[in-house]
Amino acid sequence: MFSDYKLFFKRWLKSPSQLGTFLPFGERLSRWITTFIPSNGKVLEFGSGVGRVTQCILDHHQSQNFIGIEIDPELSIFLKSKFPDAKIVTGDVKNLDAMIPSDWIGHVDCIISEVPLMYMPLSERECLINAALNVLSDKGFVLHATYSIFSPIHQIKTIKQECVGMYFLHFPPCFLWKYTKK
Ligand SMILES: C[S@@+](CC[C@H](N)C(=O)[O-])C[C@H]1O[C@@H](n2cnc3c(N)ncnc32)[C@H](O)[C@@H]1O
Repeated sequence: MFSDYKLFFKRWLKSPSQLGTFLPFGERLSRWITTFIPSNGKVLEFGSGVGRVTQCILDHHQSQNFIGIEIDPELSIFLKSKFPDAKIVTGDVKNLDAMIPSDWIGHVDCIISEVPLMYMPLSERECLINAALNVLSDKGFVLHATYSIFSPIHQIKTIKQECVGMYFLHFPPCFLWKYTKK
């Protein structure tokens, strides 16, 4: 438990904007986020960190229907040893298509994004959300967890965006944005 804090903090010192915050999500916040994720179907996690949300997803989900993507190589090694039965891919979610099996494309039911989009240029954020929307099934959706009250992307004609949850029992509070194709 404390070792994951230490590792997260160490990696934050190395790349603060990539991690976005110096603490991983709290356990209660992670459980709350997971209540928005369907318990069946294919789930992708963007930016698994030290796996707080990953753990809650895998508590209720078959590991073969889950893929976690993490850019930081040390965090990725940690995740692979913590979740030996789950698929953890090391890399940048901007290369999404190349990182997931081809038979997942068009069949992903939920993407939970924890990457700090607010630290990326706006054009990259929008590309990333669009790339995420493109691998979803017809009823699939993207959830983005952020400490900012504002959606990290502009209003875009082709994307429906709504704030579906706010969690104030955590510091900082967390906001959950849902994106679907219009
Ligand atoms: C706020 S942290 C998530 C913390 C996680 N919820 C936890 O509790 O450990 C954001 C994570 O996104 C990862 N990340 C940032 N940019 C990324 C990218 N482009 N592709 C994949 N992962 C990324 C960071 O390395 C970091 O682990």
